[in-house]
Amino acid sequence: MQRIILDVDTGLDDAVALFLAAGLEEIKIEAVIATAGNVGLDKTLENTLNIMETTGLDCPVYAGSAAPLVRVPVEAGDFHGETGLDGPIFATRLRQEVQAQSGIDAMITLVTNNPQEITIVSVGPLTDLARALQREPAVASLAKEFVIMGGSFSSGNVTPEAEFNTYADPEAAKIVFSSGAKIALFSLDCTRTVTLSAERLEGFRAKSGRSNEVFVACMDTYTANYTKRRQGEPQMHDPLCVAYLIDPSKVSGAYHGVDVILEEGPSYGKTIKRDTSKNTFVAESIDIPWFWTLVERALAALP
Ligand code: RIB
Ligand code: CA
Repeated sequence: MQRIILDVDTGLDDAVALFLAAGLEEIKIEAVIATAGNVGLDKTLENTLNIMETTGLDCPVYAGSAAPLVRVPVEAGDFHGETGLDGPIFATRLRQEVQAQSGIDAMITLVTNNPQEITIVSVGPLTDLARALQREPAVASLAKEFVIMGGSFSSGNVTPEAEFNTYADPEAAKIVFSSGAKIALFSLDCTRTVTLSAERLEGFRAKSGRSNEVFVACMDTYTANYTKRRQGEPQMHDPLCVAYLIDPSKVSGAYHGVDVILEEGPSYGKTIKRDTSKNTFVAESIDIPWFWTLVERALAALP
């Protein structure tokens, strides 16, 4: 059983990560923390609560950071829509309200009370994880592993050089990558290779269940926005982090040290490999057909 904290900026691919984590019996979600990123915290929190209620899972949802550590906030609504989760329509929620404790405190408490048991999966800007490390540096050794979606060692997707999650809070990313923690990193170099074809989406559309229905509505929006920007098929960034936890042998890569450029200019927020340390497993490829079997299994297991 993989016990995880899932830190999200729910958006459309974050929703797929949530469905995967909720629907796969190998995963136990101890906490979901919504942070500002794709859209503002008010919207990512609302989207996260709606997805969690759809799954029927009653795990605690916390509010994370409303803004990055230093820089002015940037958003990525152009791929996720005005709400950050354009497409599905949600009825008034029956439950799933936000916990009173802050997400950062919950993260520190959980890993402190369960040393080496809990994996922190972060698929948005790294602000929450950085703030937890600033408050309690031991989080780096108390957590079992950090599994992160972010960065690019080729071209960016929000600037020519930077990927959105690291660009949205580069100072936070630098703190996390230099924390000494055991890290698995899914950069664009890997996540760009996993896309949802129209044919595969039609296969999901033929299935039943509310979670499947919400997934399809999200992916219809995601597909339309990629098409509008002539970016091809929608890329499955965030759910790869959850899939990795099911069977790391399905992911190939290499160990590196990772750093983040903070100097103002065209490279601000760019990730680079610095092999002074080798604490980060940088994913290079994943067994794509296997990944999609996980998505099918998760959605079939959910209401
Ligand atoms: O660059 C991709 C990342 O930015 C994903 O986490 C997506 O949800 C957006 O936050
Ligand atoms: Ca995300």
